[in-house]
Amino acid sequence: MNHFLDIHKTDPADLRGMIDHARAMKEARKGQPKGVPDADQPLANHMVALIFEKPSTRTRVSFDVGVRQLGGQTMVLSGSEMQLGHGETIADTARVLSRYVDLIMIRTFEENTLLELAEYASVPVINGLTNRSHPCQIMADVMTFEEHRGPIAGKKVVWTGDGNNVCTSFLHAAGQFGFDMTFAGPETLEPEDDAIGFARQKGSKISLERDAGLAAEGADLIVTDTWLSMHDPQSARERRHNQLRPYQVNADLMDKANDDAVFMHCLPAHRNEEATSEIMDGPQSVIFDEAENRLHAQKAIMRWCLER
Ligand code: CP
Ligand code: NVA
Repeated sequence: MNHFLDIHKTDPADLRGMIDHARAMKEARKGQPKGVPDADQPLANHMVALIFEKPSTRTRVSFDVGVRQLGGQTMVLSGSEMQLGHGETIADTARVLSRYVDLIMIRTFEENTLLELAEYASVPVINGLTNRSHPCQIMADVMTFEEHRGPIAGKKVVWTGDGNNVCTSFLHAAGQFGFDMTFAGPETLEPEDDAIGFARQKGSKISLERDAGLAAEGADLIVTDTWLSMHDPQSARERRHNQLRPYQVNADLMDKANDDAVFMHCLPAHRNEEATSEIMDGPQSVIFDEAENRLHAQKAIMRWCLER
């Protein structure tokens, strides 16, 4: 079964194939209205469940549109309107949903919910973000970087801010796509050891820095994310802001990176907190290409899931 659970759990050749496929699908429908079906309809007669236990704009809309372009049908479900988490086990939910739908995408809190769903489902399951990782986002980000700057292998990516779920998936991608990565942030917000260990064991150079300016030197890509993720308590807000203010992406920081460095943010962003509007709207920013590429990358992921 081809579940798409995480970048480090997926064969690197398959990941490369998905990026190439996503680029070809994007190219093939250039200039067409979004509602025009793709020439190829691999999801024809397929029903896809999109489950959200957390809010979403990009993931929700890009998956829904992507399924339709590939000829399938969707149902969007929120966690609160399902029995999931209201007593029914995740295993039973997985078995039941597998009788109705051909593919499941889930955005949830605990990684274990995703893993248990995948273990008991007899249809492919896609990770649409957990507290721990966000692989679909980073597939779109790798695609976006390569569209603008060519192969990402051997490049230097600098993550500044909170070493969160998106950062973890970036580290997984560093290992699988062969780029180096520097984390700049406070010690208490460093990314998880497992992800760092994975990337290092695959041969990527991974550094941990306290000084964002030093980290940014020689960067080909500067990337950040919100200072408080959806699973973080609001009570942490003030402390996070105080801790992370020195890691804001602004003109001073971008100036320290390579001249042709790009800026990424998975969005939603808090403008003038983790990144200034000047940078978000500036010439080095590729944030809206990242958002668009969620659509193309996820179409390639869904096709890969249904291949076997
Ligand atoms: N980047 C991302 O996953 O956005 P949403 O939370 O809007 O889906
Ligand atoms: N780190 C963020 C990403 C949102 C797409 C969160 O988990 O809320």
